[in-house]
Amino acid sequence: PLLDYYGAQSKLFTMPGVGHVLTIFNQLCAELDARKHDIQSVMHETRRFAPSEAFVVAAAVDAERLQALHRHAAEDHVGFWAAQARTHLTWQRMFDHALDDSRAPHYQWFSGGLINASYNCLDRHLDTRGEQVAITFETDDAQVIRYTYAELHRQVCQLGNALRSLGIGKGDRVVLYLPMGPQAVIAMQACARIGAVHSAVFGGFSADSLKDRIEDAGARLVITADAAPRGGKRVDLKGAVDKALSNGGCASVERVLVYQRMDGCPMHPQRDLRWQDLVPSQPTHCEPEWVDAGHPLFLLYTSGSTGKPKGVQHSTGGYLLGATVTMQWVFDLKPGDVFWCTADVGWITGHSYVAYGPLANGIEQVMFEGVPTYPDGERFWRMIAAHKVSIFYTAPTAIRALMRLGDELPARHDLSSLRLLGTVGEPINPEAWLWYHRVIGGGRCPIVDTWWQTETGAMMIAPVPGAMPIKPGSCTRPLPGICIDIVDEDGVPVTQIGRGGLLVVTKPWPSMLSTIWGNDARYAETYFGRFGNSVYVAGDGAQRDEDGDVWILGRIDDVLNVSGHRLGTMEVESALAAHPRVAEAAVVGRPHDIKGEAILAFVVVRGEREHAIASGLQRELCGWVAEQLGAIARPDEVRLVDGLPKTRSGKIMRRLLRSIGAGQHLTQDTSTLENPAILDQLRG
Ligand code: WT7
Repeated sequence: PLLDYYGAQSKLFTMPGVGHVLTIFNQLCAELDARKHDIQSVMHETRRFAPSEAFVVAAAVDAERLQALHRHAAEDHVGFWAAQARTHLTWQRMFDHALDDSRAPHYQWFSGGLINASYNCLDRHLDTRGEQVAITFETDDAQVIRYTYAELHRQVCQLGNALRSLGIGKGDRVVLYLPMGPQAVIAMQACARIGAVHSAVFGGFSADSLKDRIEDAGARLVITADAAPRGGKRVDLKGAVDKALSNGGCASVERVLVYQRMDGCPMHPQRDLRWQDLVPSQPTHCEPEWVDAGHPLFLLYTSGSTGKPKGVQHSTGGYLLGATVTMQWVFDLKPGDVFWCTADVGWITGHSYVAYGPLANGIEQVMFEGVPTYPDGERFWRMIAAHKVSIFYTAPTAIRALMRLGDELPARHDLSSLRLLGTVGEPINPEAWLWYHRVIGGGRCPIVDTWWQTETGAMMIAPVPGAMPIKPGSCTRPLPGICIDIVDEDGVPVTQIGRGGLLVVTKPWPSMLSTIWGNDARYAETYFGRFGNSVYVAGDGAQRDEDGDVWILGRIDDVLNVSGHRLGTMEVESALAAHPRVAEAAVVGRPHDIKGEAILAFVVVRGEREHAIASGLQRELCGWVAEQLGAIARPDEVRLVDGLPKTRSGKIMRRLLRSIGAGQHLTQDTSTLENPAILDQLRG
């Protein structure tokens, strides 16, 4: 019955053969089922929007140029990337081999090359645009602070020297637990300058999450702030660091460097140092550490379907190339552009398109400390007008939230400086796309819907806006030098239009992750374990339409995407299971109008269920998870139940739970449930 159901109901997939229902395919079907509403509305959206003639005429990359790039890459994949690396990066010593694949899937890009990321982002601009604004920073309370390239360079050098004075050097890991702001960029650039490996942890993560990441990375230094103002509130940061380091935790950490952003915090006498005391007196010259192209630039922890978050490791040369050229292609960069990416520096988008890409390209960017709805829902639009932003890059969840507030809010502001809009992080529904296009872009700005991941380092599938038409909900085509395919569970390319499959990348690309920190086996297994060492499995489902454009269908594994933030269901489940009153828990995502996905947890309690309900345990558990993992992981709903639905072999039937969460009519066979009466409790 299951096969019939999907065969008949979901035309997106054709079953490969009866009795051949592999887990991953089941998951894919289930995921699609949960998203059927979205997908159908997406797939009915066939309108195309061509760039205006004015946009095309001025485009940095027009159709002809794009075709030439694609042709070059198709004829000589490695040679293409080598040419890009020679043109767009400044090398201390040129690389000998563009790609060494002798240890695949551990690909080595640009081996023999010596480079420094901070030199590429700062020093090389000093002669030509030292006095140009690099960062326009707007604080939570709307003060504006500008940093020129020369000023940023000076501060990065001083912090680099300060780190060296603490004995930090090449290869040492430095965890950054910092608010959104220039200091985060300065800290990343200073680490890069001295060859230290930064690992930024989003300020919304809890002390426990921070501790896990510090310990896995073996960091010697933590750079943090006393606290951060966000939406008029004080977000404590140093308190979480103190907690993470208490009771002998994080034994590798020798020092904590504290940037005082607000009213200060208790300082541990031997361990803690104030940025403001140490850094400003440092010399302003700091010799860059020239590192091999493959030297790790940073680690960034992200969630997978199993286990603890993994430290995605990025190389210096390949990563920087990806962040640099994709900006030129997708954001159509030109002198005079003011770029604003709203992502926090704690996420990959804040690395590639705040901390590195804009600086490597020598453009001006806006950084914002606060939230889109403080002091009111006009904040983004007011800022775009005030700073004359020309390129604006944000997440669908923000667009949906602001769309709700009505057209009048953006209409009060002069948004005519905008010429290009972008989205990232999750599929965008046509309604939000069309609103963004019409109301924010005034109908004249192309929208680049950019698909990529923490692991890919840079944008992979995205429009080149002056060279092609776009459609609401499609990220269109892979960029030059990026080879993707959509395959079935046997790895066979899906050729049928509108049929879904697994999104894979079939050739290595420079900004790909180098490995998972300290766990080469997990790297090989997670990304290349399925179809061999040359096929990277992204973890997303996708399909092509009749024009060959790609539509992302969402994750096919147990990874949640809540407001564009990536979370593993297992992480939330283990946090719940750590509560003394929880016997067992299962977590699924359910469709949410603004967040994309919301977290729904089913929990079996120890002791009386009725009593637990009466005592408000659901609420307590929501708070517990937020405390364990961070506010972004707070469940939207906890349902207390007497048992979880399991198969005869004892596996939790997540697919069933997803259908229940989505409020769908159940088509699954529930006769195997040990206790069918539980169904009513599951329905809540
Ligand atoms: C996952 C990666 C890449 C920066 C932010 C997220 C989803 C990302 C899109 C898009 C549909 C998207 C995918 C992907 N995703 N961009 N344009 N359309 N889905 O990075 O936290 O590593 O998450 O985000 O599911 O696998 P991340």
